[in-house]
Amino acid sequence: MCGICCVVTLCSQRAIHDFLSEDILCHLRRRGPDSSQELIKTVSDLSYQCLFSGHVLHMRGLVTPQPLEDASNNVFLWNGEIFSGVHVGNLENDTEVVFHHLASCSSEMDILSLFSSLQGPWAFIYYEAGSHSLWFGRDYFGRRSLLWQFSNEVDRAFCLSSVSGCSESGSQWQEVPASGIFKIDLKACAATKSLSLTWFPWKYSCREKAVEETCINVLDQVSKDLPNHVHLVLNESKLCLRAPVIPLNKTVSKASGACPSSNFSNINGVVSVETLQEFLAEEHKKNLACQFIDVLNEAVKRRVLCLCRDPDQITREVPSMSHKRAHIAVLFSGGIDSMVLAALADKHVPLEEPIDLLNVAFMMKEQAKHRGTTKRQTGHEVQLHLLCTQESSQDAAADTGTHSSCFDVPDRITGRAGLKELEAINPSRTWNFVEINVTLEELKKMRKERINYLIYPLDTVLDDSIGCAIWFASRGEGFISNQGELKPYKSPAKVVLTGIGADEQLAGYSRHRVCFTKDGLEGLNKELEMELGRISFRNLGRDDRIIGDHGKEARFPFLDEDVVSFLSSLPVSEKADLTLPRGIGEKLILRLAAKELGLTASAVLPKRAVQFGSRIAKLESNSEKASDTCSRLKLPSVDEL
Ligand SMILES: *[C@@H]1O[C@H](CO)[C@@H](O)[C@H](O)[C@H]1NC(C)=O
Ligand SMILES: *[C@@H]1O[C@H](CO)[C@@H](O)[C@H](O)[C@H]1NC(C)=O
Ligand SMILES: *[C@@H]1O[C@H](CO)[C@@H](O)[C@H](O)[C@H]1NC(C)=O
Ligand SMILES: *[C@@H]1O[C@H](CO)[C@@H](O)[C@H](O)[C@H]1NC(C)=O
Ligand SMILES: *[C@@H]1O[C@H](CO)[C@@H](O)[C@H](O)[C@H]1NC(C)=O
Repeated sequence: MCGICCVVTLCSQRAIHDFLSEDILCHLRRRGPDSSQELIKTVSDLSYQCLFSGHVLHMRGLVTPQPLEDASNNVFLWNGEIFSGVHVGNLENDTEVVFHHLASCSSEMDILSLFSSLQGPWAFIYYEAGSHSLWFGRDYFGRRSLLWQFSNEVDRAFCLSSVSGCSESGSQWQEVPASGIFKIDLKACAATKSLSLTWFPWKYSCREKAVEETCINVLDQVSKDLPNHVHLVLNESKLCLRAPVIPLNKTVSKASGACPSSNFSNINGVVSVETLQEFLAEEHKKNLACQFIDVLNEAVKRRVLCLCRDPDQITREVPSMSHKRAHIAVLFSGGIDSMVLAALADKHVPLEEPIDLLNVAFMMKEQAKHRGTTKRQTGHEVQLHLLCTQESSQDAAADTGTHSSCFDVPDRITGRAGLKELEAINPSRTWNFVEINVTLEELKKMRKERINYLIYPLDTVLDDSIGCAIWFASRGEGFISNQGELKPYKSPAKVVLTGIGADEQLAGYSRHRVCFTKDGLEGLNKELEMELGRISFRNLGRDDRIIGDHGKEARFPFLDEDVVSFLSSLPVSEKADLTLPRGIGEKLILRLAAKELGLTASAVLPKRAVQFGSRIAKLESNSEKASDTCSRLKLPSVDEL
């Protein structure tokens, strides 16, 4: 994961550095702590100027400082990871490889084919010197963040960056839509004193007629959010990128969906692992579960092996713990998504290397009160206090006693149970269950200092809850148990696996049941298709900014192109059966896979969203709706600093 940024000025009177604030640079450096460089291209006869700023997190090959420049003056910034599609040798750096391919492209079509063939998450900025063009964009799902900001008409400057800084009065940052890649003809723009972006959309097939309308809709939608002087156009020759996944199979067969063919005596009572066993007795179901395991297993394998493992490095933070340090961490609630990822990672991570399971819990009470401060209690604090004492059996006066029970949130409890299951599957592995306890004070402090910038430009209560929970979890600072004693621990793992994408594809959310009850399988299909289509701007850009802030890289196995294509090929009735109770029906195929992998109780846990499981949603927001704009996320304006 890297931090990339490019500022372009067209006929500007102001110095280009005026458009790149120190706080943006500081945020970029946190994403790419291993190398920072800058390069300025001035083309004075055409009166445009570009500043490229690259900050690298070293993951594989030798460290490749960015920006890269070649003999023809092309410049490349890359924040991505190639897992397939274009060959990258074990010791090669993918930045070099992609740049090399790009530089040998001789037409727009070539460039589009190249980006259509890449598998993995990416955001890039490419300056093609010969044509005076700037290309940029994000992968099909938007797994890497890229923002844009256009200055006023007078300055005619714009900026692309992985993260934002303080918003300067007036000009907002926005996420670059992950709906294709963009090209700006700098020469033409400088000459006409206008700013025009050409958009090359993703399509399942370039000859597709049906999508034309969608394209126009997206074009209108994106244009609407741009300042008046910025124009977005579709290329005249209708060139496009080819989607790296197949479209959703919306077949609704009459036989499936209603009731299962065999006899599930216990289905109306308790949901249990035996129910899954009964399903697996059906050969067809078992086959599908096994195929799913195979494809997901490959996705996890690529994501846990694709990094450099320095054999001599020892755990600096806790030298006595283990002679090997963890390279892989899992955002871990003990729920089915994270359990399956951990179980599959275990198959590929070298046995002597620990795997870190990052489990976050937010404290149920304002700590300040116990410190005897005389701060006035607001109704809010009283409520938190009540919540806490209801859950703990007694209101212990002793700080520590109260604390421990206050952190025993639902995800902590399922997390511990999940750990036991993983230990049973592989007792020789060191599983570091990292208990990350966050107090309200720390939450407020870190949100103000860091997290609000990372969530921005997103701004709802839900973004706040999820963003903060993921920030603390992925930081990996907490305690692990060592022979019954809790010891401080900071996860050194640079790769963080997250289960995002499972619920969107396998009907894991409770709204899917609502949808199914109302509109049947057709309605559910529509909802699932819509949700995967919006995952870039609902989740992924934000999560990439949040996790990248720790100098770590988020990897999303459920959004691997092959996994998505496999799941998309199946009719929805093979993936979920919402006539069955919670804990079985949603994500059914994943539960069957989990059972096959040897997981037990976790295979039948109902979905619990991180904001509730970690209890962050209960911490501050009593009466807010998840979709409300979050008042706590307000960024200070430049003058307030
Ligand atoms: C990787 O990057 C380094 C630094 O830019 C370069 O010296 C090296 O040749 C690159 N390796 C490969 C295999 O491209
Ligand atoms: C778009 O299509 C036209 C006509 O085929 C072509 O000449 C032009 O170079 C393309 N690219 C852009 C960025 O407009
Ligand atoms: C379902 O199970 C019940 C009780 O075990 C049994 O009596 C019945 O015959 C079964 N029905 C089918 C269709 O297998
Ligand atoms: C964190 O919370 C857990 C309860 O889930 C508790 O057992 C543990 O002692 C807490 N750790 C610290 C350092 O307070
Ligand atoms: C969709 O699913 C049905 C039923 O399994 C299958 O027959 C059909 O081939 C699938 N279509 C595609 C495009 O995969």
